[in-house]
Amino acid sequence: MASHKAGVNDLESYWLPFTANRAFKAAPKLFTSADGMYYRTPEGREVLDATSGLWCSNAGHNRPRIVAAIQKQAAVLDYAPQFQLAHPAAFELSNRLIDLAPQGFSHVFYCNSGSEADDTALKIALAYHRARGQGTRTRLIGRERGYHGVGFGGISVGGIVSNRKTFGMLIPGTDHIRHTHDLARQQWSRGQPAEGAEFADDLERLVALHDASTIACVMVEPVAGSTGVLVPPKGYLERLRAICDKHGILLIFDEVITGFGRLGTAFGSQYFGVTPDLITMAKGMTNATVPMGGVMAREGIFDAIAGATAPGGIELFHGYTYSGHPLACAAALATLDTYKEENLFQRCAEMAPYLESQIHALRGTRHVEDIRNLGLIGAVQLEPRAGAPGARAMEVFTRCFEQGVLIRVTGDTIAMSPPFIVERAQIDRIMETLRAVISALD
Ligand SMILES: Cc1ncc(COP(=O)(O)O)c(C=O)c1O
Repeated sequence: MASHKAGVNDLESYWLPFTANRAFKAAPKLFTSADGMYYRTPEGREVLDATSGLWCSNAGHNRPRIVAAIQKQAAVLDYAPQFQLAHPAAFELSNRLIDLAPQGFSHVFYCNSGSEADDTALKIALAYHRARGQGTRTRLIGRERGYHGVGFGGISVGGIVSNRKTFGMLIPGTDHIRHTHDLARQQWSRGQPAEGAEFADDLERLVALHDASTIACVMVEPVAGSTGVLVPPKGYLERLRAICDKHGILLIFDEVITGFGRLGTAFGSQYFGVTPDLITMAKGMTNATVPMGGVMAREGIFDAIAGATAPGGIELFHGYTYSGHPLACAAALATLDTYKEENLFQRCAEMAPYLESQIHALRGTRHVEDIRNLGLIGAVQLEPRAGAPGARAMEVFTRCFEQGVLIRVTGDTIAMSPPFIVERAQIDRIMETLRAVISALD
């Protein structure tokens, strides 16, 4: 059989994730360096990062403290197993994370991505109920339009059809509450929509259908990001919490996007004043410099699982070779220092009203049918082109890139989530570019 010999610059062999590979290779978009608010292309063109990479470089790029910490750590302890062993920075980081967390959290489990964090949280929920003698609670509930990464757990509770339809039956015994978007009642909402808290009652429908004794947990993103930025209606998360409490169901917040300052508080939970039982995190945890994710558990969860384990026994048969990786821990500690020293969560909170005012000024622009925002997250929803959903927004993405602004699109929604160091003039530039590009399109 003839083997294909690739040159170093052959584009074919790299199968890009979540990408139209053939279209990409016909017109590749590459970055070769990044600093502060900007990426740089191989031709030396600057591209303003309006998305913090993939919602993850919250402090901007090439931050000196973080770079130095990773370099130093690599030369001191490059790797240490975490199964029956550990290293000091992993403990330091978990303590720092508990300090940042809402009141009442006690334990942190490490993994390497948001997907792993979400699957880990689902497993912890199952282990918790089983340890308490409620092993019939095995059903995992998610929400339509939810994104919880790409593991089988995450796509099973997730609610994005293209991420699910190819992959068979997924995990049996999952179900979904309805999503929170209602264009007619929520259109042009600034921040949290006033209407729609009652969508949380959909959980009662599932309890009536399946019985609470079969339900382990409900996983939701406090603000749904990847599905096009759906901001929770006022009172919705509070109601979901109350229904979970009533039926003994664990509430899991997927804070992979909302964690680490995106709403102006350390976690979204603190912004909304609603405390879940488990919080999943990744992305901004290391400012995206080294892959890392984690699950934070409320007091009582570890103890329940430990209480059902013989002394000296392993409490949870779960973990990753790279759980608590020394480079990731070093990067995370330096990231937390950077956030703190530069008051970046507060900066995000201060900049959020400006983003809100500027993005809502796009109302009235051709093709724009809704605008949503919260914290340093903004979304512009376009009317789809007849017979070609997503095509108009994808064209906006390419034209903005050509004009030096990186945005993100999902379906026909344009999402923005700039680093917290963004300046007002940069927000102006992002919005002016968007307005010009969208207006010029069919
Ligand atoms: C809410 C949410 N959960 C989970 C994930 C998955 O994270 P990762 O891509 O690190 O696996 C993402 C990624 O965008 C996310 O937005």
